[in-house]
Amino acid sequence: MSARFTDRVVLVTGAGSGLGRAIALAFAAEGAKVVAAGRTAGPLDATVALIEAAGGTAAAVTADVADAGSTRELVRRTVEVFGGLDVAVNNAGVFRGGHSAADFPLDDWRTLLDINVTGVLHALQAEVAHMRAHGGGAIVNIASNLGPHVRIPGVFGYQVSKAAVSAMTRAAALDHIADGVRINAVSPGASESTMSLLPGETEAEREVRMKEQSPLGRISSAAEVAAAVLYLASDAAGSAVGTDLVIDGGVSA
Ligand SMILES: NC(=O)c1ccc[n+]([C@@H]2O[C@H](COP(=O)([O-])OP(=O)(O)OC[C@H]3O[C@@H](n4cnc5c(N)ncnc54)[C@H](OP(=O)(O)O)[C@@H]3O)[C@@H](O)[C@H]2O)c1
Repeated sequence: MSARFTDRVVLVTGAGSGLGRAIALAFAAEGAKVVAAGRTAGPLDATVALIEAAGGTAAAVTADVADAGSTRELVRRTVEVFGGLDVAVNNAGVFRGGHSAADFPLDDWRTLLDINVTGVLHALQAEVAHMRAHGGGAIVNIASNLGPHVRIPGVFGYQVSKAAVSAMTRAAALDHIADGVRINAVSPGASESTMSLLPGETEAEREVRMKEQSPLGRISSAAEVAAAVLYLASDAAGSAVGTDLVIDGGVSA
């Protein structure tokens, strides 16, 4: 495959684990200079080490997207370290489940809104502020099939938060395409990370469950989700604006 992101600067939030790490590795493998961001330094350093071991270029920056100042500082550091910001993937997110709407703990509700919704807004604001002043860019937000595309019982707050990410993506895309900033979303279904495991469930048990729950019969690999993100961030997706690309094995088809 050709290197679609040679010398482009790519910021990935939540890059110390799961889908974010796979997305960071995929961009680096195609020539990008990657900033791996999250709240915890150790896993971010491990992502950077994996990228460097494969011959790529990356730096770790700790930041909390729930904090507007921390997120602005993340973008400032990205520009300082690699000289710009061409692509941003707002992937950081958390899951809280196990309660109905009527019983949903308000602490969990606030955490979901602070990180999954306001965190994406903080990132969007800091990223667009830079990109529109420097010739544009591409932003991909990670939503979910749960919320915008399908609803199941017991996942109330998470579904609300991800529906907001999808709506925010499409509304912001219209606001900022005239600034040269393309904003899109990827909505994964159950994917290769610990987030898709039920409490106490093993990977083998998840495999059996997915055979029943997914038309495809399996989870999506992290590489499959990353491939969708790279497509939307690439020049080939130049007319994709406000797209919400579902990668869920047909669950919400
Ligand atoms: N896995 C799935 O099946 C699936 C399906 C649909 C959507 N998604 C979405 O995909 C994204 C990635 O999830 P994942 O499955 O890869 O889960 P994960 O392994 O738990 O990754 C989430 C990452 O976000 C970071 N993070 C959490 N809160 C943060 C904050 N306030 N500021 C900065 N970073 C923060 C975490 O690192 P720290 O805790 O160190 O900050 C972690 O590295 C999430 O938005 C998730 O909702 C996942």
